[in-house]
Amino acid sequence: MMDIEKRIEELLSQMTLEEKIGQLTQRIFKGAEIEQMKEFARKGQAGSYLLGSTAFGSDVYQERPLIGLMDELQEAALESRLGIPLIYGRDVIHGHRTVFPIPLALASSFNPDMIKKSYRMTAEEASDDGIHWTFAPMLDVSRDPRWGRCIEGPGEDPYLGSIVAKSIVTGFQGDNEEEYKQRQHLAACAKHYIGYGASEGGRDYHRAEISDYSLRNYYLPAFKAAVDSGVATVMSSFNEVSGEAVTASEYLLKDLLKTELGFDGFVVTDWGAVWQLILQGRATDRKDAARLALNGGSDMDMEDNCYWDYLAELALEGKVPIENIDEAVRRILRIKLRFGIWEKALSERIDYDSELHYDQSKKMAEECMVLLKNEDNILPLKKDAKIALIGPMVNARRSLLGSWTLDCEPDKVSTIKEAILSQYPEVTVYTTNEESYDNMISMIYECDTVVLALGESYLMTGEGKSLAYIDVPKEQEELVKKAYALGKPMIATMTFGRPIGMQSIEPYLKGIIYTWHSGSMTAPALADILFGKVNPSGKLAMTLPRVTGQIPLYYNPPRASRRCNGYYGDPNPINYQDVSGRPMYPFGYGLSYTTFEYSNLTVENKEISLDKINNGDKFAISVEVTNTGDVDGMETVQLYIHDKIASMTRPIRELKGFKKVMIKKGESARVTFNLGYSELGFYGRDSKYNVELGEFDIYVGGNCYADLGDIIIVK
Ligand code: NOJ
Repeated sequence: MMDIEKRIEELLSQMTLEEKIGQLTQRIFKGAEIEQMKEFARKGQAGSYLLGSTAFGSDVYQERPLIGLMDELQEAALESRLGIPLIYGRDVIHGHRTVFPIPLALASSFNPDMIKKSYRMTAEEASDDGIHWTFAPMLDVSRDPRWGRCIEGPGEDPYLGSIVAKSIVTGFQGDNEEEYKQRQHLAACAKHYIGYGASEGGRDYHRAEISDYSLRNYYLPAFKAAVDSGVATVMSSFNEVSGEAVTASEYLLKDLLKTELGFDGFVVTDWGAVWQLILQGRATDRKDAARLALNGGSDMDMEDNCYWDYLAELALEGKVPIENIDEAVRRILRIKLRFGIWEKALSERIDYDSELHYDQSKKMAEECMVLLKNEDNILPLKKDAKIALIGPMVNARRSLLGSWTLDCEPDKVSTIKEAILSQYPEVTVYTTNEESYDNMISMIYECDTVVLALGESYLMTGEGKSLAYIDVPKEQEELVKKAYALGKPMIATMTFGRPIGMQSIEPYLKGIIYTWHSGSMTAPALADILFGKVNPSGKLAMTLPRVTGQIPLYYNPPRASRRCNGYYGDPNPINYQDVSGRPMYPFGYGLSYTTFEYSNLTVENKEISLDKINNGDKFAISVEVTNTGDVDGMETVQLYIHDKIASMTRPIRELKGFKKVMIKKGESARVTFNLGYSELGFYGRDSKYNVELGEFDIYVGGNCYADLGDIIIVK
């Protein structure tokens, strides 16, 4: 640790102003301009190169296409006066060659160990291509499925978001400084700090109106968890929060992130976010934008070269204190040293087992998919079933991978049809590449079950891909209704990237599996769930509304003053005249092919003094969960609290613990949770975190409607 700080000061003391600004500059890798890029590197005029979506030539994996050029460029950097290497960054979001489920789906696995393992593998693959640093995880808690980027985040809950943050950060980076330096690990970047997921109306890049109370209690926890887990970098978001343009916000970047949370890595701006301060009406021109961003606490300027063009001038004019520049350089050098970029500078092959990674991708996909409905136990289907396989996703390949998969291998992806045919040869599959009503009638006539493969293209999700309507697309609604008219039982597989409103089709379906865009192995995982080889265990990380108009709809708002708590089924809720106040399916919800019964809730020490809580004492809560069905299964046991009376209004329910356990048929497991200082408090009016005196309801169960409850008292 000390060595690193010493080395930073040694380097800093030798750097010219231009070399310092070079470190703060992230340029875009353009293979065609290699000579100019080398020149920048040789003169110490670049700290980082971003391997953009097209840097590698296409959005499909190619065998180390630029590695030679990357090494040449790096050699030039190492030959520079001080020999400081470049850090290569790329968007490695949910897999590299092997694609894992979209992050929203990963969160729905409620399995932190599996998530971590998946990201370890992703780091290996990306390191093999000379990448040092990824712009992930995205930790934007979001309550708005219209926002196309909700697919990249952990869903709507701050606690789940924090657990996911830790898994991804430690998955990418390793668990300690020794591991950070190992070649197969990447530096991570918690993004988009902060409030990007709360953009009004789900409109991407739009403003967010967030009170300090909500910011700290809903949006900050996942970032705090990332910082506590040692995340190397944080990306400032494009948006503004209640009048603060984040990229220039001393309050958000310096006071809150760096000072209060103790983040000692560096802040990189989002793409072009410095010059965008002009668009936001904060800066008069690019120079002014550079001044505001650097003084505000953005350390590295991504893409727009505002720092490069103006910081020297600004420093000489005294408008940017040299201490601010030095501080930003220190942070960047710290991460380069901490992550062993000198040693990792030139590429070397990483030995990894691709088959193992695909295998993990399948297991991960299996754990992410959510069984939403299973009337009359229509699922799993029999292995000699006759199915009519219909719908827009039957032959989809690329879309199963999801958005933000810059190095994917689509030719290794099976379609849903291919997976069923190859894994279940005894099944009779009536299907066609040509969707026509006549075709459909004859197929349905022959079959005993209709499998509707519904979904959306990956191009409808991700950055800049918000939707005003997130109800099931009209053509798919019609398809469901026409098929229903033919009288056979129907199930739907929902391959969407975001929660969609399915009120218009839900009543027609006996079975529903929400598959998400679950990566390279979506189809094989789905086939095994359909035919019962795998028992589904995913739980929703984000509420599924009934219709678009209910948004935002989330499980943890404060209790309302009148009959407005429709989510929880208030009798006669006054939510809407035209639609129920309830979601279609609530947060944490997901069925299994078996059933679980919760019993014997016990609370040790129902009362604990505030003093003791503040000093680390905890309530111990345990519950027995029994698998009462015919097959083994995994259940995510969830613990919710409700602070009954407090100095601020508190959520009706807050997730404060979960454990995913495998329970064999007929067997029981006892699951224990602890609740203490970190779980029971909140940031109050004074922006300070405190646990308050009083009673808390606790609930344990399989989703946010958990009804086995008790009370604990902080006295
Ligand atoms: C813009 C996106 O908002 C961000 O998430 C991404 O990491 C950068 N572009 C770099 O590609």
